[in-house]
Amino acid sequence: MVGKVRTCVFVSGKGSNLKALIQKSNLYTFPIKIELVISNNLNSGGLKIAKKYGINTKFIEFKSKNEFESKALSELKKKQIKLVCLAGFMKVLSTNFIKNFSYKIINIHPSLLPKFRGLDTHRRVLKSKEKYSGCTIHFVSPRLDSGKIILQKKILIKDNETVKSLKKKILILEHKAYAEAIISLF
Ligand code: GAR
Repeated sequence: MVGKVRTCVFVSGKGSNLKALIQKSNLYTFPIKIELVISNNLNSGGLKIAKKYGINTKFIEFKSKNEFESKALSELKKKQIKLVCLAGFMKVLSTNFIKNFSYKIINIHPSLLPKFRGLDTHRRVLKSKEKYSGCTIHFVSPRLDSGKIILQKKILIKDNETVKSLKKKILILEHKAYAEAIISLF
């Protein structure tokens, strides 16, 4: 496929969504190519995964959000990135960053937004006795886990569901949903 969208993935943690995206992007017909992985966490599993697949990585050290964002923007520019995918990236990007990167920024969140924004999602979902949970891919806006929804997938919550079992099921769902959302955009 010619003209794949030059993409950067931001990660903070384990990187299972990143891994799923890398594997999809290696398929000829998938519309993006991951050119760069950026992390704010040197010990992120995501950085190790990217290196294993031969993808450029950048760990950004910073003393302030502003410093992190200006370093990240300069990396995105250098690599002519046209799409940023947040995949377990645990920082809220500022309005300034979003304005300064003129292309799409998308995020995945493990709930049926607008319900359960923020952290500790699965525990809160179980506590509020929801019938369903799932995941959402959305455009990034300066408000946490907000912005226009691109795609959602849901599952039924079982009576004996635990945080661990729900997290496991939803991660599998996330891996499929992120790829589908990207295909729907390009
Ligand atoms: C995923 O469940 C993702 O939806 C969540 O962090 C996890 C990262 O897992 N993101 C958020 O909660 C963002 N608000 P991974 O590192 O294995 O992809």
